[in-house]
Amino acid sequence: MEQKKSLNFFLRQKNVAPEIRSLLSNIARSVKYINFSLRAGHTGTCGTENFSGESQLKLDVLADKIIATELERSDLVSIIASEERESVEKFSSSRAKFVVAYDPLDGSSLVDSDLAIGSIFGIWAGDELIGRTGNEMEAAAYAVYGPRVVLVIAIRDRGVHEFELNDVGEFILTQSDFQLEKTSKYFAPGNLRATAINKKYKTLVDNWIAEKRTLRYSGGMVPDLHHILKKNQGIFTYPGCEKHPNGKLRLAFECAPFGFIFAEAGGLALDQTGKKILDLKIEKPHQRTTIFIGSTDEVKSAVNFLKK
Ligand code: AHG
Ligand code: MN
Ligand code: MN
Repeated sequence: MEQKKSLNFFLRQKNVAPEIRSLLSNIARSVKYINFSLRAGHTGTCGTENFSGESQLKLDVLADKIIATELERSDLVSIIASEERESVEKFSSSRAKFVVAYDPLDGSSLVDSDLAIGSIFGIWAGDELIGRTGNEMEAAAYAVYGPRVVLVIAIRDRGVHEFELNDVGEFILTQSDFQLEKTSKYFAPGNLRATAINKKYKTLVDNWIAEKRTLRYSGGMVPDLHHILKKNQGIFTYPGCEKHPNGKLRLAFECAPFGFIFAEAGGLALDQTGKKILDLKIEKPHQRTTIFIGSTDEVKSAVNFLKK
């Protein structure tokens, strides 16, 4: 029988530095607690809004607290930045050496209808987030809370790997070394309302339909991008529109971590102007960016088509 590999065992085998392993185990624990809160039904609204003016669920606030507590407890984190916090927060620890930016709960609007949601984490060395790029990240991770709970971790030069939460609360390796193909039959077109004005975006999507490609779109970035990794192919798009030229998704909490994960898996993430997401400088924590991410050739040709 094949040996079951726990998260820590696998990361040790991959020669991942002890401090990153330790930080990732705190992140894994926070994912477990968020999953408990979700299953326990802490899902109603809060009556409050976050910094971006989006109404908050109890679970948005709880997930943010759970993650912040675990990161502080790790004793390894100098600064956190969260989608649910206006500004970055500093922790004081003499061992602190990482910055973590996170989206505690991605897909909040899908919670009431019981669709899959997620959490996203980006990890940098040092004690500064502003001025950094996705290229400088050490690791990134996301969790999917679906019928099953999985944690996907990318570590610089050590690939992208998936772990599933088992019935006794351990994360066990389910797939290692994700690799994306260059082309794809799947498409996940975000912000379709932009097609009302942007006729090129409309033509791009119409072409995919005419080519009889397969639509896979849930409205949650985490499950939509997880689908692409699991099928080894696909493209997810979130262009801007007149009112929001930089789209909706945030660079530090969503796009840079996924840009890093997809690059480690041989994929690509560009913004609408053709710049690599990983090259974009974080100028403020809640900065937004457009994103085209997935199979390399599909991403390049979609962005080129829109620029033509
Ligand atoms: P969040 O719940 O963290 O605010 O993010 C939701 C995001 C993302 O998951 C998804 O791809 C996108 O919002 C969909 O946005 P719209 O349907 O509003 O265009
Ligand atoms: Mn989000
Ligand atoms: Mn969120």
